[in-house]
Amino acid sequence: MKIGFFGAGHMGSAMIQGLIASGKIPAQDILVKGGRSQTAKKRQKELGFTLIDQLEELTEASLLIVAVNPAGVLPIIQSLPAAVTDKKIPLVSVAAGVDIAEMTEVLGSDYPLAHCIPNTPVSVNEGVLGISYSEQLSAADKEIIDQSLQLLGSLIEIDEPLLGIVGSVAGCGPAFVDLFIEALSDAGVFYGLNRELSYQIVEQMIKGAAELALQSKKHPGELKDGVATPGGTTIKGVVALEKHGFRNAVIEGVKGTME
Ligand SMILES: NC(=O)c1ccc[n+]([C@@H]2O[C@H](COP(=O)([O-])OP(=O)(O)OC[C@H]3O[C@@H](n4cnc5c(N)ncnc54)[C@H](OP(=O)(O)O)[C@@H]3O)[C@@H](O)[C@H]2O)c1
Repeated sequence: MKIGFFGAGHMGSAMIQGLIASGKIPAQDILVKGGRSQTAKKRQKELGFTLIDQLEELTEASLLIVAVNPAGVLPIIQSLPAAVTDKKIPLVSVAAGVDIAEMTEVLGSDYPLAHCIPNTPVSVNEGVLGISYSEQLSAADKEIIDQSLQLLGSLIEIDEPLLGIVGSVAGCGPAFVDLFIEALSDAGVFYGLNRELSYQIVEQMIKGAAELALQSKKHPGELKDGVATPGGTTIKGVVALEKHGFRNAVIEGVKGTME
């Protein structure tokens, strides 16, 4: 199955990387139309996808993914040639802030559409992808969209107005976790761990803690209590974090993204 992409910037290439890494979509079956600054051309050398010139070449695709800046989405779908729109190839936009209603105004209410907010871990098939579908979407078109995006991680159907907060928590979240990784590793280095080892320990710890939370389905407070021996070191650390407003800082970070 061929997948057409508009844009191979940060998100487009993360998704392309994940699709190729899944082993289900050969690199040459990913057809990419790039923008003005030749970003896609540069990524093509590294990822091996097929760069296209003519939009008509997208008629070979079974799915179209629009991964450009929000302002570019409607102009792109307005420019789709009849050869593509007549085939009603399902189209997924991953742009924040352009909703299905706006895309439907351009393509018509019977065009199969979805609005998806992924995050960068899609590149290693561990993404979170919030998704909303157009009302008229057939089961067959939904299957094509779902089968492809599920290769990239956890696909979660959600009401479209909530995609904004999914974008903040899951889309911006990796940057927050990266800050945490860096800070915790700095603390490890402060107490004598070498830098590389400190990153390795912290990254594996976060992966393990997330996996434990996912698999055990326990409340995070219960998991925290399981680590915190009465009068022990962990609870002293937790109290110090609370004193410095750790949880409030995280919530304010998300509020900052929603402004
Ligand atoms: N980054 C994230 O973590 C994230 C998370 C969720 C959703 N998103 C959404 O993903 C979209 C892309 O974000 P990004 O971070 O990947 O931005 P980006 O790195 O700037 O990539 C956007 C790419 O779109 C290309 N482009 C622009 N106009 C085009 C056109 N008419 N036809 C084909 N390609 C075109 C650009 O190509 P040139 O550089 O060659 O001009 C650029 O490489 C945004 O709408 C954003 O809301 C991003």
